[in-house]
Amino acid sequence: MALLAARRGRLLVLAALLLLSVLIAAAIAATRPSTRPVATHRPWLATGEPLEQRVGQLLAALTLEEKAKMLYGIAPPASSHAAGYVQGIARLGVPPLVLSDGPVGLRDTPRTKPVRPATALPATVSLAASFDPALAYSYGQTLGTEARARGIDVLYGPAINIDRVPVGGRNFEYFSEDPYLTGQLAASYVRGVQSRRVAAQVKHFALNNQENARHTASSNADQRTMREIYLPAWQTAVQSGHAWSVMCANNAVNGTYSCQNNALLRDLLEGEWAFDGVIGSDYAATHAAGASVTAGLDQSFTLRDWGAYYRDLPKLVRSGAISPAALDERVRRVLRMMFRIGLLDGPHGAAKIDTAADSSVARQAAEEGTVLLRNDAGLLPLSATARHSIAVIGPYARTAYTGGGGSSHVLAYHTVSPVQGITARAGPSVTVTADGGADIARAAAVAAAADVAIVVVGDRSKEGQDRASMALPGQQDALISAVAKANPDTVVVLNTGAPVTMPWLAQVHTLLEAWYPGQEDGTALAATLFGAVDTAGRLPVTFPVSAAQDPAMGGTRYPAGPHGYDYTEGLDVGYRGFDAHSLTPLFPFGFGLSYTTFGYGRLTVSPGAGGVTVSCTVTNTGRRTGVAVPQVYLSFPKVAGEPPRLLVAFGRATLAPGASRRFTMTVPRHSFQFWGSQGWQLAAGSYRVSVGSSSRDLPLSAAVPSPSGR
Ligand code: BGC
Repeated sequence: MALLAARRGRLLVLAALLLLSVLIAAAIAATRPSTRPVATHRPWLATGEPLEQRVGQLLAALTLEEKAKMLYGIAPPASSHAAGYVQGIARLGVPPLVLSDGPVGLRDTPRTKPVRPATALPATVSLAASFDPALAYSYGQTLGTEARARGIDVLYGPAINIDRVPVGGRNFEYFSEDPYLTGQLAASYVRGVQSRRVAAQVKHFALNNQENARHTASSNADQRTMREIYLPAWQTAVQSGHAWSVMCANNAVNGTYSCQNNALLRDLLEGEWAFDGVIGSDYAATHAAGASVTAGLDQSFTLRDWGAYYRDLPKLVRSGAISPAALDERVRRVLRMMFRIGLLDGPHGAAKIDTAADSSVARQAAEEGTVLLRNDAGLLPLSATARHSIAVIGPYARTAYTGGGGSSHVLAYHTVSPVQGITARAGPSVTVTADGGADIARAAAVAAAADVAIVVVGDRSKEGQDRASMALPGQQDALISAVAKANPDTVVVLNTGAPVTMPWLAQVHTLLEAWYPGQEDGTALAATLFGAVDTAGRLPVTFPVSAAQDPAMGGTRYPAGPHGYDYTEGLDVGYRGFDAHSLTPLFPFGFGLSYTTFGYGRLTVSPGAGGVTVSCTVTNTGRRTGVAVPQVYLSFPKVAGEPPRLLVAFGRATLAPGASRRFTMTVPRHSFQFWGSQGWQLAAGSYRVSVGSSSRDLPLSAAVPSPSGR
């Protein structure tokens, strides 16, 4: 008996040891790289085959662990200088995926030194001010080229959230308060980036309109407000721009985090809009594995704890918490994007950065984005022969304003400050003096001693924080007043990412909004000041008299209430709100002076294929060549409950003095729809189309019947 018991004991110990070693081996296998043999038969590498077939073949060859690895970022190797990095699967010939910021220039992560420079383009709000989709395409193409040359596969941009409140910290990175303008330019930008076989990751989906409390707050909006204001630009970017990727936002929407929001990701983006690309998380925007996979988050980037949540996917699939099919759907999308980028077609051809060509896109963009807000004394354009001395004053006189703060900030290849640009263009017969403006009395004296004073001031918008107020920081308001008093020929140049208050406006007759112009700041400013180019920019945002004047400010709308930001202003965002409440802003949406003047005439409105065709004739009635930007606004029948006017089309063309041009613009049927109880619907009754040079200058107008149900 004792012998039997001893033998049984030994057997039990042996069995336990065996079990332990099996468990240890399994645990090691789970953490170790796959030891599977290199696949010799790799049909997915055959470049001529249909994309979906290649995706299916590669998907079938992946193990569960390999699939999971393709769904989350790990710490990028220093050599990549990238913000994000997803492991490749070497045995199957799948290279890693390299992701980088950002929307206004390539940005090496500051985590890896040394940081390499890139072309610093003007801020996105400046691009929006150009109203120029062709420029947006070259802007995107420039980014795509520089990304490709640095081995970047996915570019984090464009950033397309709507400028809801004037103090929004990232408004400079976003385009506009208007969904149509944002969508049109974003789609062109995306096409430009992707023409270089770099995926544009459009961000931040959705309603990331505030920076304060962005990781915790919820943006709460009703369905109509979302459909008409906050979501249309996304639809345009993915359906017309064919974006290969979208980034979900840090904030929650209606109480559910964006990156696990079924209504936004699964039902709308992937379902209704048939988006078949990749949804990646903003950094640290993932909060769960299961809920995110179910909602449609394909790739998770967690930064401080790389792989958090998604590294558990194999375990969750094995336990049945996540279905293999749900996981496969996420992987399929990643593979599809990798094939689109051409990552499995062998090495991309050697791409070279042409810094001169890229600089010229940066310069053109800065010029086209500059908005002339006031020129009451006809001071601009300056004549180099009539001026002997120019004083350039202010904190941004001797420094190019290359961009706002945060993940969009770029270390520029080179910079041209306002002083440098003006000196170069003015030529040797003009004396240019500079003063930083710290000592206001001294700055005023410098201004008084010159023929013309250019005072360059700015704000400091940045990611992660809204602006505390709309005021220019420090003593810049006092500086402007003192300079304008000292020299009647003063030009104020704003380097701001968003509207600012202007307590000195009554003292100033010449005012330019140059935004954050990027590395070619001074070159573009000088070309504008001396009239080498027309001031072609138009405001993509309303400039309120004060932040409090904006209908989206106040209450629990902004700042956030206990449940987050309540978007109870509904459709009354930007000029829509100013028009609805009959408010007079400082400068209205769409406004911007040219160095010439334009006449508008011969409006015709006719039903056309898929919508309504609007034509008008614009004539250059002045003495200089200039850029006309006719804008078409639509007014709905009252029953629809829309704000008074919505931008539905725009044109842009350069006209010689005396020249006329007929613009023909199509307003698609969808623009006549509002979101009602039946979803998208047409309003019964008569619509009205108005055309002119800004949302508040619309000399042409005509009634138009509701487009038929075709
Ligand atoms: C920003 C994103 C950016 C990401 C990666 C986040 O903090 O919100 O816009 O792309 O970081 O740097």
